[in-house]
Amino acid sequence: MLPEGYQIRPLSADDASALAAAYRRNRDHLDRWDPDRPDHFFTDEGQVADVARQLAANEAGRMYAFVLWYDGAAVGRVMLANLVRGHMQSATVGYWVDHEHLGRGLAVAMLEQAGQEAVALGLHRLEAGTMPDNLPSQAVLKRAGFTEYGVAERLLYVGGEWRDHVLFQRILHDEPLGVS
Ligand SMILES: CC(C)(COP(=O)(O)OP(=O)(O)OC[C@H]1O[C@@H](n2cnc3c(N)ncnc32)[C@H](O)[C@@H]1OP(=O)(O)O)[C@@H](O)C(=O)NCCC(=O)NCCS
Repeated sequence: MLPEGYQIRPLSADDASALAAAYRRNRDHLDRWDPDRPDHFFTDEGQVADVARQLAANEAGRMYAFVLWYDGAAVGRVMLANLVRGHMQSATVGYWVDHEHLGRGLAVAMLEQAGQEAVALGLHRLEAGTMPDNLPSQAVLKRAGFTEYGVAERLLYVGGEWRDHVLFQRILHDEPLGVS
């Protein structure tokens, strides 16, 4: 459950300016773990374009993105991406929390809500990958019911190198395909 004062809402085209401010405030906090981002990404215009890209992916059923709000500011994000349907029904989950709002259970609460959204979308499984030294993120995943199942070598290009990632998954239910 979210602490008082926080809300999670689906991404909207109106969020671009608040997201640009959030990414600027958290540039150092996120830099070590995120794919390299051009300076343009941190501008209002850059976020207008990025939000439009994500909303188009949402329209196509490939991505579901949410923003965490506190007192009118965007202070975190969670998204379901890389949706695979058919006999897999899986998505990759991504998340971050503003550096001034850490340690309040917000990441775990966002992952719980993302899990509920995923079930409502008919998904069966969520997966997440973290760099081996991202211990905070691994703690969050374990707390949110994810299980570690392996390591993908050189999975993502981050900080100028192809980085190994520890893989986690959460099976959402055991209902037959098409029932939930
Ligand atoms: C990882 C991150 C999302 C954690 O957000 P948060 O809201 O502070 O996490 P929570 O408060 O929900 O913490 C959940 C659990 O993780 C643990 N945890 C969180 N940060 C931790 C840290 N720095 N060191 C050790 N444990 C940590 C908490 O103790 C808690 O466990 P508990 O309930 O057993 O005490 C945040 O640090 C972040 O945005 N990091 C940068 C972006 C990132 O790494 N995203 C994920 C990429 S895979």
